Amino acid sequence: MPEYRWKAAVVTLSDKGYAGEREDKSGPLVCEMIRVAGYEVQEMILLPDDCEEIKECLLRLCDEDKMDIVFTTGGTGFAPRDCTPEATMAVADRNAPGIAEAMRAASMKITPRAMLSRGASVIRGQTLIINLPGSPKAVRENLEVILPSLDHGLEILTGRGGECGQ
Ligand code: MTE
Repeated sequence: MPEYRWKAAVVTLSDKGYAGEREDKSGPLVCEMIRVAGYEVQEMILLPDDCEEIKECLLRLCDEDKMDIVFTTGGTGFAPRDCTPEATMAVADRNAPGIAEAMRAASMKITPRAMLSRGASVIRGQTLIINLPGSPKAVRENLEVILPSLDHGLEILTGRGGECGQ
């Protein structure tokens, strides 16, 4: 059994996935990658690209379920209904832009289309919320960049150990 340090939820935003017109491969991939990194996935949720529904879901995961971290995947692009960043910023107490900046900077070395993700990274209470793009390829590439540094951020955010030594 791996030792889990953090309570996590994974939320996929996709109208097609929600309607059963497309298999959600990205949510399960996020779960698989974060479990290996020490996150206990307590919820995996699939929602349509509806800003109100997304906000409501994020509020519950942060305020009632007290997740340490919420990863979203999808809805970060330019399509008219893409609203994950707006819903995320609407529930934010504080911005944590470095995570989204790091993902876009590293991803630009892989594809210039990385600039088309509007994904945000924010803090609500003691929960970190991170928007990942929607494709499994983008999920993998982005998580590989940020996972090594998240532990330290979560230690500081939650007050569970960790000094800023390095
Ligand atoms: N980032 C990485 N690392 N790899 C990718 O393939 N795809 C981009 C971008 N970020 C991509 C990426 C593309 S093509 C788009 S349109 C945006 O993410 C937004 O994706 P979303 O609308 O599925 O959230």
